[in-house]
This record gives sequence, C-alpha cells and structure tokens, in this order.
Amino acid sequence: MIPQAKPLLGPAEEQAALRIMQSGMLAVGPEIAQLEEQLGSWLGQAPAVTTSNGFSSLHLGLLALGLKPGAEVIVPCISSCSAVRDAVVAAGGVPVFADVCEHSPNLDPTSVKQLLNSRTGAILCPHHLGCVAELEELLAFGIPLLEDCAQAPGATYRGALVGTLGTVGSFSFYPTKVMAAIDGGVVASNDASVLAAARDKRYYGGIQDDQYRLNYKMSNLNAAVGLVQFARLPELLERRRSIAGRYSQALGVQGLQGSIVFRFGLRTQPGRTQALLDRLLEAQVPCRREWYFLCAPDGFPQARRWHDDFLTVPCYPALQDEQVDWIAERLASSIRPGDLREPI
Ligand SMILES: Cc1ncc(COP(=O)(O)O)c(C=O)c1O
Repeated sequence: MIPQAKPLLGPAEEQAALRIMQSGMLAVGPEIAQLEEQLGSWLGQAPAVTTSNGFSSLHLGLLALGLKPGAEVIVPCISSCSAVRDAVVAAGGVPVFADVCEHSPNLDPTSVKQLLNSRTGAILCPHHLGCVAELEELLAFGIPLLEDCAQAPGATYRGALVGTLGTVGSFSFYPTKVMAAIDGGVVASNDASVLAAARDKRYYGGIQDDQYRLNYKMSNLNAAVGLVQFARLPELLERRRSIAGRYSQALGVQGLQGSIVFRFGLRTQPGRTQALLDRLLEAQVPCRREWYFLCAPDGFPQARRWHDDFLTVPCYPALQDEQVDWIAERLASSIRPGDLREPI
C-alpha cells in the first residue's frame, strides 16, 4: 500500500548529511547557528532556538514562558498528537481541555473563555492541518499564547506567518512533517527574554551551576539536513497544495485545506464514515481518522463530530504524479453520493 506519509529527501539532503558525517562535527557545528539564523529571519525575528523535536519545543516554550508549577494550560481536547497535552505535563502544568470550533479542528475561543481563571498560565493552540486557529480572539484573552505550528509552517494569518503572533511559536521537523530535519524542532519568539530562556534551558552542556536544564538540542547532522529542506520549503508547500488541488478536482469538493496543506481532509456525514473508510482501505487508499481525544471525551460536541466524521487522505510531496492520480481515481470511485459533508 502507498504509505500514509513519507519525507521527500534527495541528493542535496544526502550530500549535506554525508558532509557532516565526514567532518566529524555531528553534535555541535555551524549548521545549527545557520538554521537558527535563517528560521529567525524568515519569521522576522532574532535567531530561533533549534531543538531535538516538536515535543521538546513545546516543553521548552512553556518553560521559557515562565509557566509556574501547577499552572493550567488550555489545550484542545482532540489532536493528532498527544505532545500537545504531554508537553504541558512535562513543564509541570495542568492541561485543561477545551472544545474545538464547528468550522475547524482548532481551539474554540468560546470554550476557552469558559475555562479561564486565576490559575490559567498559558493557552497552547495547535494550527491543526495547516488551518490557522482563531488568533485574534485567543490573543484578546491576554494570556501567554503558545502557537503549535507543527502542522502549519508557512501558514499565514492576516499576512503574518504563524508562530510570530503568539508569545512563542513551536515547530516540528519530524520526517513526515512539511519539512524534515530527519527529526527536530524550533522555538521562535519576538521576545528576547523568552528566546534566551529557551536557549538556556535547552542544554546543560558546558554549564556548571545549580539550575535545572534539559538535553533538547538539535544535532548538527539534523541541522544540515534541515537547512536543505528549509531552502525547499516553498517547493514542498506548493507540491502539497497541487496534490490537494488534484483530489479536489477529482471529487468536485474543496475538502479541508488550510492556509497551507498538511493532509487533505474530508468531513463525512454521520453514519457513513466507517463504511467509507473500509471501502477506501479495501481499495488500498491509506486514509485514516485523524483525531483522538486527549482526555475523557464527554462534553465536547464539536470535537466529537470531528473525531467521528472526518478522514484524511495522504498528501505529501514524495507522492509521484501517477500515485496522486491513482489515489484521486480511487477516491472518486469509492465515495458515494451523500458520503461527504460539504461545505466544511
Ligand atoms: C500538532 C502537533 N504538535 C506537536 C507534535 C510533536 O512533534 P514531534 O513529533 O516532532 O515531537 C506533533 C507531531 O506529530 C503534532 O502533530
């Protein structure tokens, strides 16, 4: 079966990796600073703080915000990754779960508002599937906002790149994300003191004092591959958008496409989802349910709908044109009238 996701790594990435392996500068080296400089300048900020993965970026981001032990952090009750909840626990906080929007799988500001209290230390908002969260409303609460851009690098909100609007932006360079550094992540911020705190907490090496620190640094090998992938980011994003366009055209529906495309999403009619998923898997199209609950599922009506009646279709640059056409054709022949819920 065609894989659900796969990175697009070519000769340039291979050469970069080989060069670092031959140099012997595997852990620390100039590529890390270069990547931090380039990511910071792309975001219009000071050099960002690279990390070992998206989880460590979220964790470091929360620590850099100065989250107090036991402080509450509002997170969505569904996600495709439990790092959204677990990074809060790692940072000594208490995750508190909000429902998502009717029209997007992101935090619903009305639900968030009901959870705010004197213990609230931060709001952690993923931009799921490249769909940008309701930033204006979330920022208006005046609580430190951590944007989780793991699924949305390059997405924009009113012309500004996501990751630059909240107090902290966190990104992931996991192999199946939009750009792969084999593995990795980054913490970005407009606030110099937040960046300094993230940089300080990231690694204990070379410092001898009584402070608690982590080992969340990105290796030079990862950074070298990340630099090549970052240079290709526009091409990688364009290819995702064009594959989603091909699926849309074959199905005659828009599907859920965010400000950038991460996966191509289909909202399905209640009662039709499992049968459709079974038919697609039978046809060897590796679709899947995207969301799972990060907490007990009761009391979240919108999340329930996204959880139960939503499928994603593989949509990544390593797919060949023939594979994209093949998937598009099988989608079109497997989806029956009334299976989909459009408009989203
Ligand atoms: C929304 C979201 N946040 C955070 C992460 C964590 O990133 P990583 O896998 O690099 O730790 C992921 C990865 O799946 C994700 O999808």
